[in-house]
Amino acid sequence: MLILSIESSCDETSAAVTKGREVLSNIISTQIDEHRIYGGVVPEIASRRHCENIAAVVKEAVDKAGITFSDIDAVAVTAYPGLIGALLTGVNFAKGLALSLGKPLIAVHHLRSHIAATYLTHKDLKPPFLCLVVSGGNTVLCEVKDYTDFNIIGQTLDDAAGECFDKSARAMGLDYPGGVNLDKIATKADEKTYPLPTPKASDGKYDFSFSGLKTAVINLIHNQNQKGTQIDIPVLSATVRKKVCDILINKTLSAAKDKGYKKIVVAGGVSANSELRLRFENECKNNNIEFFTPELKYCGDNAAMVGAQAVYEFEKGNIADISLNAAATMPIDLKTE
Ligand code: KG4
Repeated sequence: MLILSIESSCDETSAAVTKGREVLSNIISTQIDEHRIYGGVVPEIASRRHCENIAAVVKEAVDKAGITFSDIDAVAVTAYPGLIGALLTGVNFAKGLALSLGKPLIAVHHLRSHIAATYLTHKDLKPPFLCLVVSGGNTVLCEVKDYTDFNIIGQTLDDAAGECFDKSARAMGLDYPGGVNLDKIATKADEKTYPLPTPKASDGKYDFSFSGLKTAVINLIHNQNQKGTQIDIPVLSATVRKKVCDILINKTLSAAKDKGYKKIVVAGGVSANSELRLRFENECKNNNIEFFTPELKYCGDNAAMVGAQAVYEFEKGNIADISLNAAATMPIDLKTE
């Protein structure tokens, strides 16, 4: 089954052609340079760039795959969650395409796609497994019982891990996307010089909270600036990185032990973090747990991961109606009540 997929939930316009877990093309047009001067994504600019780029990106994906539009069996699109104007551009384009080709339309949840990115790298990986999805806007710990059956056991009560990285990095004067740059320059953590709090997420055992940590980093920088003390940015970066990794790894491993999971998947943009990947790998090895994460090129937003999940949505009969709408928020289990 050849699937043409479209992703436009944030600041990447992407289109891909996939056949199961095989990627025939995966075109990504990033807007990072344009948003950098504002220190973050400007939603209206993102929507307008998607609108300008989407047709050319889709055409390039089809050409690069060496197929024609008539070879496509289904059109898949990220419908939720994300920036609403950005999502609407992709959803509307996908609807027009599906209608004109007379092919089924498949709506895909963005975080399900991030998890499915792991299938592109680990071709034999099958649920059930425990999964931590960490991106710029979401931090979710869930049981993946089957390809389309998700049980959320924990999530952030405030900021996402990526947001904590990005905003801490911004306070340190690093360029957007801060998480990436913070990871690049981080050296060795020093928790004595830069003590940071471990947040308590009292509402649930596996829930996360990152806003207190982010605020502590911002306050620490202000205090040091007021005293005229020079901040060692690479060391502070490493200290923030270590703290975020400690929180994510401890909760995930304790959930895996409690629930008896022997397979852990870590996906989403933040799964590109070098310390997170390395420490998860080692901790899982020490605890006799198999660890899976997408290769770096599939960690960030891309359409190939949408295609990887779309196959299972299609098999489950999850075909979207042509009146499909986008949604800015949506839990991974799609339960809205
Ligand atoms: O999944 P993604 O590409 O977009 C969303 O769906 O949100 O994730 C983007 C997030 C940003 O917060 C970015 O700073 C973070 O992932 N990120 C990283 C790294 N690479 C990307 N954070 C820490 N270390 C990295 N190496």
